[in-house]
Amino acid sequence: MRVNGEERDCAVTPNTTLLEALRYGLGLTGSKQGCDKGDCGACTVEVEGEAILACISLALAYHDGPAITTIEGVAERGQPHPLQDAFDLTGAAQCGFCTPGILMSAWALLRKNPNPTRQEIAQALSGNLCRCTGYTKIFEAVERAAETLRQRGRA
Ligand code: FES
Ligand code: FES
Repeated sequence: MRVNGEERDCAVTPNTTLLEALRYGLGLTGSKQGCDKGDCGACTVEVEGEAILACISLALAYHDGPAITTIEGVAERGQPHPLQDAFDLTGAAQCGFCTPGILMSAWALLRKNPNPTRQEIAQALSGNLCRCTGYTKIFEAVERAAETLRQRGRA
């Protein structure tokens, strides 16, 4: 599999989910196993601009590409990505279970749409459930990150 810019080998069976391969095969435990049935978004990874629920995806479908990005691949050269900085500065970070998936949905959105409206952000994050937040700060953080990325010309 091509994960976070590297070719990684992992033994799987036909039934192994992408989430199991990432977490238990490759040790990438940032993607969380929440509901394990496609409801909560905790397992979200990004595949070529799309947010994918890894718990309901089969690993074999990714054995020969396409490129997968997990939360471990978001930081650059040890520095937080502007999206991570924005969550920090805005106070948007929630718990370790929901935040990785929220970040990956936002990451996928910004890859496709560098200037999303509040409604588009809400739509993109609608599959990431957290009963603890009102989502307002999360939306603000995504807007802040989008602006930073646009200023850097690399959204
Ligand atoms: S763990 Fe995949 S959607 Fe909940
Ligand atoms: S589920 Fe993570 S803070 Fe609510």
